[in-house]
Amino acid sequence: MMPEICNSLPWPTDVSGLLKTKMCDNLPPIQARPAEGFQSSRLNSLVEKFASEYSSNPQFCARAPGRVNLIGEHVDYCGYAVFPMAIDLDILIAVETNITGKLNLVNVEDKYPSFSCDINNVEIDKSCPNWFNYVLCGVQGIKEEGGIQGLLTGLNIAVSGNIPPSSGLSSSSALVCASALAVAHVHNLSISKDDFAEICARCERHVGTQGGGMDQAISFLATSGSARLIEFNPLKSTPVTLPHGAAFVVANSLAPMNKAATSHYNCRVMECRIACQIMAKKVGLAWKEYQRLGELQKVLGKSLPEMMTFVSRTFESRPYTKAEICELLSTTEEELDKCTLSENTRHIQEFKLHDRAQHVFSEAHRVWEFKRICDSKSESALQDLGKLMQESHNSTKLLYECSHPKLDTLVDLSKSLSLGARLTGAGWGGCMVAMVKEEDAEEYKQHLIKEFYSKEPSVNGKEINSVLFSSLPSPGACIYRF
Ligand code: GLA
Repeated sequence: MMPEICNSLPWPTDVSGLLKTKMCDNLPPIQARPAEGFQSSRLNSLVEKFASEYSSNPQFCARAPGRVNLIGEHVDYCGYAVFPMAIDLDILIAVETNITGKLNLVNVEDKYPSFSCDINNVEIDKSCPNWFNYVLCGVQGIKEEGGIQGLLTGLNIAVSGNIPPSSGLSSSSALVCASALAVAHVHNLSISKDDFAEICARCERHVGTQGGGMDQAISFLATSGSARLIEFNPLKSTPVTLPHGAAFVVANSLAPMNKAATSHYNCRVMECRIACQIMAKKVGLAWKEYQRLGELQKVLGKSLPEMMTFVSRTFESRPYTKAEICELLSTTEEELDKCTLSENTRHIQEFKLHDRAQHVFSEAHRVWEFKRICDSKSESALQDLGKLMQESHNSTKLLYECSHPKLDTLVDLSKSLSLGARLTGAGWGGCMVAMVKEEDAEEYKQHLIKEFYSKEPSVNGKEINSVLFSSLPSPGACIYRF
């Protein structure tokens, strides 16, 4: 890391050079604004928007990337490791302080309405999935957990993003992360990347979704050139070199999915939680103390395959009514609503427990297999990884039921030319990721254009690169100095 980057941070004066470097590595970098290329022209347009709105120039810009998850879907909120990489699509937010105490927000895209409120009195309306809610989450997160003394300074902000929204590439979390980073920077707070990741995972829950921490963790911890194995409780991130010769192609199914707008996502979180509590009760543990399948596994000291056997012995592969669940837990519906369910899942009357828990344990196992194969550098690595991706897709489709017919079509179309393909992100629409041999990438993309995108009227006139692209692992969040 460049010393000039470190010098612009608020360092204690008495630390040794060595410690300084270590601390510096641990903080989101502050770097010069790119002087040329695509990012530079995006920044120029953002500055223009900023100037036309606020009649002044921004003081700095915060950047946070989106991500594609290679394997490990719907396991982070159960406490299990995931395997994402950051992509080069991102959120940029240009910022200046104001003396009015207001948070003023504009977006370069007119379809996103402007917003303004008292920065010290932020209210997040969970019932409306407004774009600016994610900025408010970031502001609130730093206010609650960033260690700020006194009031927050007012901010004028302009936002620009090129991560397609509702596409499973984590545009919302990138907006939360960029906002939190910006607020922390204004207030001179030295928050480590790990702490940012955890604060942002928690504060994004203000919109009502009970997400795990994957998206926020990779947005801060990503490094260019490698995907990351991210473990939780405690947060730990390990760079993993992907096998030589593999390219990852992301294809948008064009079916939008906004996880904050429906209860699908939270319903899955609750199904896993209920399964966990019933299994805990079955072995005589105090079930209310268990929220995550991963915690239960640790306490039981069983392997993932053993947990799968435990699931099969505990549940049938069918939906359980709320009344049955209460009976199994020896509790009342009121108690279940209070101790287990989230606000937007209390109305749900049936929950699938066997299939959801089987997915989680088998997917958690695939993540470690994926890492093992990457590290092994074996000759069959590409084929073996592709097979795991395919199994992962089948499990999300059949056991977790979070796929979408268009995602399944893309995955099926990928069978002939890719090594493996799967939905990525929450699912129910959004994107698929395929692993292909580098030399086959172009032919593969042409195949998808011919068989899928040419039949999609909504692609007409759009840049095909915005729905079908390859990305190398890109670096994590940073501040661009102006
Ligand atoms: C969303 C959530 C993540 C994770 C994925 C599914 O992206 O934000 O925490 O649960 O879905 O793997």
